[in-house]
Amino acid sequence: MNPTRAEIDFAKLAFNVEQVRRHIHGEFPKKKIKICGVVKANAYGHGLEEISKKLVELGIDFLGVANYDEAIRLRKLIPNTPILVFGTLIHSKLEPAKYVSILHKHDLTATVASLDTAKFLDIYSRRFKKRFKIHIEVDTGMRRIGLDFKRAYRTIQQIAVLKNLELEGIFTHFASSEEKNKSFSKLQLKRFNKLLAELKKAGIEFPLVHSANSGAVLDLRESYFNMVRPGLLLYGYYPGNSVKNKISLKPIMNLKSKVTFIKKIDKGESVSYNQKYFASKPEFIGSVPIGYGDGYQRKLTNKARVSINKKLYKQVGAVTMDWIMVELGKRYKINIGDDVMLMGDDNGNELGADKIAQMCGTITYEILCAVADRVERVYLNG
Ligand SMILES: Cc1ncc(COP(=O)(O)O)c(C=O)c1O
Repeated sequence: MNPTRAEIDFAKLAFNVEQVRRHIHGEFPKKKIKICGVVKANAYGHGLEEISKKLVELGIDFLGVANYDEAIRLRKLIPNTPILVFGTLIHSKLEPAKYVSILHKHDLTATVASLDTAKFLDIYSRRFKKRFKIHIEVDTGMRRIGLDFKRAYRTIQQIAVLKNLELEGIFTHFASSEEKNKSFSKLQLKRFNKLLAELKKAGIEFPLVHSANSGAVLDLRESYFNMVRPGLLLYGYYPGNSVKNKISLKPIMNLKSKVTFIKKIDKGESVSYNQKYFASKPEFIGSVPIGYGDGYQRKLTNKARVSINKKLYKQVGAVTMDWIMVELGKRYKINIGDDVMLMGDDNGNELGADKIAQMCGTITYEILCAVADRVERVYLNG
């Protein structure tokens, strides 16, 4: 059996959910603010089904996914919790009636980012007794998808008269809420609030209004409305340095493997592809079966450290597809089969996904999502 695995701790997930809850309700003790747990991209690499099931057990109100495939997979497992699909619909499906009927059958909530999508869902929902639940996405500055805030008022009026849709929600998405400088987020919020006020005057109101991703949950209380949409916080990381430590969090994934081979090399010998490391003294090298094929980035070559028996060791030589090598020193006290911790909760020292992301010149999100399918997920404290 391959010893490389991602151990995912449900007790830490519960802890993070509780921290988020306390934080948002601490600000608004009388107001019930719903939480939409964002579980897209295989729950940021942690396992879509398992994480979602646990979040539902923990009383999460909504689940947010990226596309209809993820949503349908989830609905098979989770019968009752609303599932909001952030992605767009493909209108050009060969059998649109059948397509929409599948979405109806799975009781999904659609993001509507254009009038065309609204009309498409409306037309093909005619023959169903239930109206199709939608949340309208307004683009207030992200420039990804959504109704352009400048023209959204008119478009929403046109959507509001469509009989087969239920306008359950409206939302926007921040482009930089994790940054210290909140001026762009505040501008986005101002545009969104102005639109909401105009719609209200015209008699159009939505039961659910939401905008806050993790950065805004931590640091932009005026963006909460009556639902928030945290992703990264649930998995135990902060979306940026300036919002760090606003609440306490525990990374829920520990990426682990085992030392499976040890040899001694001489001074001057090189390790791994392309001779990127030379031993400056005779030393022992341990080989660990994890590589970029598992999501352990090649950019970590000669940079990362790993923890064995609570001590840090240097990873040396190029990261290969299936292996890394670790310098164990002149004399070592490590045995084949000893656990190696490569990423996760080591009390904020060296191995956090945020630290690893920094070494790779990327963001924590990408490092978590990169943990490959072939890495077994092991769930603890279920
Ligand atoms: C529409 C939407 N809402 C919420 C989130 C959650 O973001 P975060 O993980 O920063 O909380 C995302 C993720 O990018 C998103 O696309």
